[in-house]
Amino acid sequence: MEILVRKETKEDYNSIREVIKSAFKAIEKTDNEFNEWTLAERIRDSEYYINDLSLVAEVDGTVVGHIMFTPLKIKGSTACYESLDLAPVSVHEDFQNQGIGKLLVRSGIEIAKRLGYKSLIVMGHPKYYQSFGFELASNWKIGLDTNFNSKYLFALELVEGGLDGVSGVVEYCPPFYNENGELI
Ligand SMILES: CC(C)(COP(=O)(O)OP(=O)(O)OC[C@H]1O[C@@H](n2cnc3c(N)ncnc32)[C@H](O)[C@@H]1OP(=O)(O)O)[C@@H](O)C(=O)NCCC(=O)NCCS
Repeated sequence: MEILVRKETKEDYNSIREVIKSAFKAIEKTDNEFNEWTLAERIRDSEYYINDLSLVAEVDGTVVGHIMFTPLKIKGSTACYESLDLAPVSVHEDFQNQGIGKLLVRSGIEIAKRLGYKSLIVMGHPKYYQSFGFELASNWKIGLDTNFNSKYLFALELVEGGLDGVSGVVEYCPPFYNENGELI
């Protein structure tokens, strides 16, 4: 199976919505509540959108996977650090477990390195992300709050020492928050 990874374009938007919906079907979210396909669209409509890091995976001309990265801040007590977040990533249910997700993550990591990002943060399944070299964010005292005890928040240095001296609470870009400032 040949998998092509490339930047998303306007022509892909409808297919991407279907891919994300299919991937997250098990979570049974509706169009009317917060969901990952709306998140992708909110990001795309915002100033935080990075087209170079919004990728699709195509098989035989059909979009079957999608990944997005957005700027993220790590707010320490005396300094704020720029990083990057990986979310959401989706593979159509009919194409899962065939290496497409891994290719999207690896492609994104390579592009992020070329663009000069020093680190990457992701919230996700430990086994999956550790296979790319991610380590618990808590190892650097990076967390969702100052307890730094999240078991699902992972960090990856994109350059050697990319997280040296970095610690603090992550702040996603605005599309991730509702009007009350809650992470959605
Ligand atoms: C998670 C996801 C992106 C992985 O992509 P994929 O193409 O199916 O997976 P790959 O073929 O690249 O990798 C397969 C490996 O991932 C593991 N895996 C697949 N889905 C997983 C999940 N939700 N959690 C943990 N591990 C998962 C498989 O067990 C397999 O492990 P192995 O390599 O040790 O055998 C895809 O399954 C998906 O869209 N899932 C639903 C949406 C989701 O949970 N997105 C991530 C949160 S933003």
